[in-house]
Amino acid sequence: MESQILYRGLAPYYDLIYSQKDYVKEATILKEIIERHKASSGIDLLDVGCGTGHHLKHLGDDFACTGLDINGEMLEIASKNIEGAEFIEADMTTMSIGRRFDVITCLFSSIGYAKTYQNLGKTLRNFANHLKPGGLLLIEPWFTEDVYSVGAPFMTTYEDDDIKIARLNVSMKEGNVSVFEMHYLIAERDVGVRHYVGRHELGLFDTERTLELMREAGFRASYTTEGTPSSRGLYIGIRGE
Ligand SMILES: C[S@@+](CC[C@H](N)C(=O)[O-])C[C@H]1O[C@@H](n2cnc3c(N)ncnc32)[C@H](O)[C@@H]1O
Repeated sequence: MESQILYRGLAPYYDLIYSQKDYVKEATILKEIIERHKASSGIDLLDVGCGTGHHLKHLGDDFACTGLDINGEMLEIASKNIEGAEFIEADMTTMSIGRRFDVITCLFSSIGYAKTYQNLGKTLRNFANHLKPGGLLLIEPWFTEDVYSVGAPFMTTYEDDDIKIARLNVSMKEGNVSVFEMHYLIAERDVGVRHYVGRHELGLFDTERTLELMREAGFRASYTTEGTPSSRGLYIGIRGE
């Protein structure tokens, strides 16, 4: 999946761009939700699309953590930052890792990279196959088509004494897929200024259709925006016995 590979080369800057994101608070909220809904008895947790592993870092005291991501460079950073977790390089749309977990999380809209409903269905079936009976699936979605605005300019910046980063894009859409051409300008001490462009394509999945696909994959499924880690809300799936 070409678009996902485009974090390549940019993995070292991912944590700087998202340095304002409050992973500690999000992990605390996730723990409460897991405690409330999980119906299996173990503590094995898999974070799919884990990136540099920041949620896992704060879930490690309560769970035996595994992270899965398509991008090996993100996983390399994750494994340096986080002790005691296992990391697996794989594509969520085709994953088959021969183990079952009590909890699968897929956070910060990583699910959008499934891009098509066909791949979303496959991914949800993969999640079901990797969960124990009664296991819990938590998915933080990307935008739905009706709230996604096309043509809007965005800029995120980061700076410290050694590096200045500006990431800019104008939101685009092709069919029901949101398209981002992220332009990064990075000025780094003793390196110079570099310009990268990364194209990201994320499916704008309808909430009801996603719930249907979750149910078809064998989950009791719901969607909520109450008490969730972010305003994107959360799909909650409990795998049938
Ligand atoms: C927005 S980042 C989220 C990372 C992390 N969950 C966080 O909250 O910081 C999306 C992640 O999904 C990963 N990803 C994209 N497509 C994927 C796929 N098909 N299978 C597994 N991981 C994928 C990317 O490599 C990236 O690390």
